Amino acid sequence: MGNIENRLRPEDSSIHDWYRFVLSFPPHLVQQYLEDFVTNNSSLVLDPFCGTGTTNVECKKNGIPSWGIEASPITHFASKTKCTWLTGKYNLLEGAKRIAKKAENVIKSTTELRTLSDVQLGLILKNSISDRPLSDTLILRDTILSENSVYQDYYLLALAKHIVFSYSNLKFGPEVGVSRKKKEYVDTVSIWIAEVKKMQIDLNANEKNALVSSNITWGDSRNIPVSTAKYHGKVDCVITSPPYPNEKDYSRTTRLESIILGFLNNKEDLRRVKQGFIRSNSKNVYRSDNDAQYVRDIASINELSKKIEQRRIELGKTSGFEKLYASVVMLYFGGMAKHLLELKPFLKDGASLAYVVGDQASYFQIPIRTSMLLGEVAESLGGYSVERIDTFRKRFATATETWLNEDVLVLKYRGK
Ligand SMILES: C[S@@+](CC[C@H](N)C(=O)[O-])C[C@H]1O[C@@H](n2cnc3c(N)ncnc32)[C@H](O)[C@@H]1O
Repeated sequence: MGNIENRLRPEDSSIHDWYRFVLSFPPHLVQQYLEDFVTNNSSLVLDPFCGTGTTNVECKKNGIPSWGIEASPITHFASKTKCTWLTGKYNLLEGAKRIAKKAENVIKSTTELRTLSDVQLGLILKNSISDRPLSDTLILRDTILSENSVYQDYYLLALAKHIVFSYSNLKFGPEVGVSRKKKEYVDTVSIWIAEVKKMQIDLNANEKNALVSSNITWGDSRNIPVSTAKYHGKVDCVITSPPYPNEKDYSRTTRLESIILGFLNNKEDLRRVKQGFIRSNSKNVYRSDNDAQYVRDIASINELSKKIEQRRIELGKTSGFEKLYASVVMLYFGGMAKHLLELKPFLKDGASLAYVVGDQASYFQIPIRTSMLLGEVAESLGGYSVERIDTFRKRFATATETWLNEDVLVLKYRGK
């Protein structure tokens, strides 16, 4: 999430840490809005772009029921697993030790390294993982799957985390890239089992709230799955951080573990997943996209889009992606409008909503005041009003000498 303070405070550690990616927001921010919005422990909190589940985990820790929606299959899997807590007698470690032993034996005796298919290799960043760690990871994955344990999801999530942070050559800046220094040998199994051990400690520490409900739906929050109609009129508050119009490709950040764990197998899978995302970058625009229609009558967004296109022409920029920048802005705010329309039947009258969004300047350095524009979009749809915009961080963009805010847009839903 942009430059927002992503570092963990001590109290933020544990289950949040099972799998988080650079775009997740800090749990203490969620805590702040829970204190503000939630009046009792039967309130239902929704995060319609729940990512790695920060809002939902934080709710569960506080005994508050929650619902999350996430379009990416790997992050959906992660948040769902992070919100599945256990009661009573269980033992993640016993099965994990058996798996570790078997996997180590196979790793030792393997003469020909295992690898991914050519199609799968074509979808990951070149050199994102070296041959030996990849082979060991695939052996460990297959051993986990062959055990068919009731704890399989925890085991796979522990693997997913370390594929990214321990086994791969990936590095994370504003975008994901490949480090120059490659990891050629990693003690895959020991790292994995240490993570499972940590999970067991975290589950023990949180047993008391194991039964607090937190349902995570795999879906597109511009088109909320029919199966969730049971939540009609039930949501008391929304705390979320949607994508921003900033050229970030969420499918790239999680590509390696998505492929290794089988959440993406080919280009068609990838396209289907990307089509479920709010359009926030020019690499994710399709001929059939029509979300712009929802903001057709909002002058400020149309002007912004025209300004970006004019600047492109002035600068003589002619790449296919640059030509799409003006459309991305329309599609982004249009998609968010569609989401807010879709949300209405689920909200209680008087519901409070917090959208964590950042100003951006990714398109020829023209500032996009995301929270203000999103507030305008919400008010244009009827039923929503802007309560306030809380700025919690600012950064100075030297190139344009402007301040870019990181804000929380607070909305109220007043029903029909
Ligand atoms: C800024 S991240 C949210 C991070 C989250 N707060 C966390 O702590 O991990 C935005 C998330 O929205 C998801 N997303 C994008 N478009 C979506 C859509 N149309 N419906 C549901 N989720 C979507 C992305 O996959 C990404 O995980």
